Amino acid sequence: MHTPASEKGQLKKKTQTEVCASCHRDKASKVDRSGHMPVREGKMECSTCHNIHGSTNVKLLRKGDSVADSCVSCHADKRGPFLWEHAPSRDGCTTCHDPHGAANDRMLVAKPPALCQRCHIATRHPSTIYDAGLVATSVRVFARSCVTCHSTIHGSNHPAGNMFVR
Ligand code: HEC
Ligand code: HEC
Ligand code: HEC
Ligand code: HEC
Ligand code: HEC
Ligand code: HEC
Repeated sequence: MHTPASEKGQLKKKTQTEVCASCHRDKASKVDRSGHMPVREGKMECSTCHNIHGSTNVKLLRKGDSVADSCVSCHADKRGPFLWEHAPSRDGCTTCHDPHGAANDRMLVAKPPALCQRCHIATRHPSTIYDAGLVATSVRVFARSCVTCHSTIHGSNHPAGNMFVR
């Protein structure tokens, strides 16, 4: 604290991330993966989500009483309650997203359809494609895959029903 390297907070490294990285190297490295929470740009930092000095939430999270609470403190549109809830979305966002960054778009822990198939293996409309010839073109596996159609995957209020398609 007598010879601080940072501009604020009297830290011994130049940035907060470097301080945390001296012990939590794995979390700090994930920030460089694809996934845009503006941490890399310096507009958010570790302490935006964590209160390092202690908190009443799990994992030293600053806001709320659960992981999902902490996420929806910013992403209020995902809070619900929805008319049609998608069960895992109520449970916690980290079933599908890695808050520190992931190798997939949208910080997803796996790329759809694999992500969805972790749970939906036997549905009336198969989560696999009908025949191997469609691997390269089927909308079920291509591009946004399942969320091309199931676009309100976090929950929906549309009277059309509980399939998260609107
Ligand atoms: C000198 C090493 C060190 C530094 C620097 C450090 N931590 Fe930790 N941190 C630890 C240890 C040790 C634990 C406990 C790990 C365990 O229980 O497995 C921990 C645990 C945590 C946890 C998990 C708490 C829980 O309830 O499981 C979070 C979140 C965390 N640190 C965030 C941070 C952040 C953010 C920074 C930077 C501002 C930081 N830490 C800097 C050593 C450090
Ligand atoms: C967008 C919010 C957010 C930011 C920013 C963030 N974290 Fe976390 N962090 C979380 C959440 C949520 C968890 C709990 C994850 C879980 O339960 O799977 C967590 C968990 C952790 C843990 C505990 C992991 C464990 O397995 O117990 C550590 C350590 C940690 N974060 C360090 C950091 C460091 C270092 C940074 C900055 C580089 C950082 N976090 C930035 C949300 C965040
Ligand atoms: C302090 C506010 C804050 C918190 C807390 C927060 N986020 Fe974010 N998040 C943001 C901002 C800002 C963006 C960038 C939005 C944009 O670019 O439009 C973002 C973007 C995202 C994205 C989109 C990433 C992309 O590649 O487009 C996802 C997914 C996301 N957040 C998930 C989460 C999850 C899961 C949590 C809880 C672990 C969480 N966020 C907690 C502020 C936050
Ligand atoms: C069942 C898996 C799943 C769960 C659980 C989940 N998400 Fe997502 N999320 C996705 C998928 C898939 C996408 C990408 C959607 C797309 O490509 O349109 C996404 C996209 C996002 C985005 C970026 C695009 C947008 O719609 O704004 C944010 C932010 C986000 N999620 C936040 C959250 C938060 C906050 C939670 C917890 C309340 C959560 N997610 C829980 C699967 C999930
Ligand atoms: C962690 C497990 C899990 C993951 C991952 C998951 N879901 Fe679900 N999903 C559920 C559960 C549980 C239900 C509620 C099923 C019920 O009520 O019978 C559900 C319901 C649904 C429904 C409504 C159908 C119904 O019968 O209620 C659709 C559509 C759906 N999920 C699509 C998806 C898509 C698309 C993805 C990938 C982005 C996905 N899910 C990822 C667990 C999951
Ligand atoms: C071309 C659009 C489209 C794509 C792509 C799509 N779905 Fe669906 N899905 C639908 C529609 C429409 C329904 C409602 C069917 C009904 O009402 O009987 C549905 C129903 C469902 C249901 C609930 C009914 C059931 O069969 O149990 C689940 C679960 C589901 N989809 C998961 C998935 C998963 C996982 C993927 C990706 C592998 C996927 N869907 C890709 C359009 C799509």
